[in-house]
Amino acid sequence: MLNVTDLGEGTPVFWVHGFPLSSGIFEDQLAIRRVRHIMPDLPGFGQSRAPIGDITIDDYARVVIDLVDHRGLDRAVFAGLSMGGYVCLAIARLAPERMKGLILIDTRETADDAETRNGRFASIEKVKQEGTAPIVEGMLPKMLTAGAPQALRDRVREIMSSASAAGVTAALRAMALRHDSSPLLPGIAVPTLVVVGDQDTITPPADAERMAAAIPQARLVRIRGAAHLSNMEQAEEFNRVVAGFTAAL
Ligand code: MLT
Repeated sequence: MLNVTDLGEGTPVFWVHGFPLSSGIFEDQLAIRRVRHIMPDLPGFGQSRAPIGDITIDDYARVVIDLVDHRGLDRAVFAGLSMGGYVCLAIARLAPERMKGLILIDTRETADDAETRNGRFASIEKVKQEGTAPIVEGMLPKMLTAGAPQALRDRVREIMSSASAAGVTAALRAMALRHDSSPLLPGIAVPTLVVVGDQDTITPPADAERMAAAIPQARLVRIRGAAHLSNMEQAEEFNRVVAGFTAAL
């Protein structure tokens, strides 16, 4: 079973979360008006059941495209954070005709280099032996800036801790084996918003700058005082930028 939040009326926006997170990271975005917010928990994350067997980034993309179909929607905006961005870029390749706009949040277009890929496979073994806690505690300090409020840090830890071990290992493998989306960027023919926290060290501003330069209709926005989860850490500013983008579509 797939858990999906579907709230609001207006331009449909599919919000695709990162790793090892859930749709809970987008709770603050529900405040954006004149938008229909559709927020799935990807398989194995939040309250969605883990995939049976291996899954690819393209499979996650098909899960989202199915949601578009099931709702009888023709086109929608796809907004993906980090791993969710990898998924949205796969949607841009698999179903460009369904895309009305694209929002790439703290993400990158390139595939893993060998070192990162090997690290993912080592992490899979670690999760099999020790569960998801080492991944959660290892990633948490990079999700937010050092000055982020403790309550926000606790919320992010809680969201990360809801991921199942099977979901986490499947996603690590999917990310390790994902396509390089660089060749796709010049052909993206919809308005695109590229957002990045100015202190993001997981997918740094240089990644966002490179994507925005390669996508014809892209606008780049740096969010000050935010790390990887720029939508949570500076929700008000993030929402203002997204609301402007969706209103102009
Ligand atoms: C994420 O936030 O989705 C992950 O950090 C992405 C990644 O590990 O490549």
